[in-house]
Amino acid sequence: MRIAEVFERLDRPCDKIEHYFDLYDQWFHKFVGQGPKILEVGVQFGGSAKLWRDYFGPGTLVTGVDVNPQCEPCDYLELIVMDQGSEESWNNLRDRFGVSYFDIVIEDGSHENRDQIVTLNESFAMLKDGGIYFCEDVHTSYYNGVRVEGGGLESKDSFVEYAKKLADVVNERHTKFALGVGPTPAGPHVSQDLLDRFGHVRGVHFYDSVVVLEKDSPPIFRRVNSDKQRQPPVGTKGNPSPQDFVLKT
Ligand SMILES: C[S@@+](CC[C@H](N)C(=O)[O-])C[C@H]1O[C@@H](n2cnc3c(N)ncnc32)[C@H](O)[C@@H]1O
Repeated sequence: MRIAEVFERLDRPCDKIEHYFDLYDQWFHKFVGQGPKILEVGVQFGGSAKLWRDYFGPGTLVTGVDVNPQCEPCDYLELIVMDQGSEESWNNLRDRFGVSYFDIVIEDGSHENRDQIVTLNESFAMLKDGGIYFCEDVHTSYYNGVRVEGGGLESKDSFVEYAKKLADVVNERHTKFALGVGPTPAGPHVSQDLLDRFGHVRGVHFYDSVVVLEKDSPPIFRRVNSDKQRQPPVGTKGNPSPQDFVLKT
């Protein structure tokens, strides 16, 4: 069943932007019937937690983070009262769940730019490879001087501007090696801090008000040609081996 239909039957208040439903179907469908473990930031009255439970089915477990306990926990929902902007609280959460625990992170909390960035930085390690990070209401990245802090077109403090950096992480090895040319060590390289946190960002997807990150190990970069005679041998400038991407210092 499509999630919009599940939403129509929902028995708890839940407030969403309509076009998110197609994105949920697109990114979350593979977890239906799999009993996914979900980290939801921003639980409010538990409406969306119930939506996830009804959509994904039995076995779904939602760990909900909210600064305000406004709903009762239940068999599919555990509530953790904390401020998503507190790095110390995230440390405690990571101590408890460890890395690679959740299948999905859904961020629908304060929508403050700083909080969105802290939450991404601190929770991404808890997402499994194959998992999906779904950050909602990132239109606040464009609110300049109203409602939230840090927004405005190309503001260095906005969440969207931060997420744009991850496009460079996805393509990081090409800052060190050019096809047909070989090693190009002189250029600027993605910071080690970003690589340590987000080396397993497989894809970054921007939509109206939503950013989706796919988590997985980077693909093997292998050039293939349907005409085997024309396929450059592995380890040449035209077809690097994985080691060729490692900068020699
Ligand atoms: C938009 S509501 C969540 C709605 C819910 N996901 C739904 O769809 O039914 C935002 C929630 O974020 C919580 N929140 C606001 N600031 C927060 C913060 N700094 N840390 C954690 N939660 C916060 C609010 O208490 C509120 O419950």
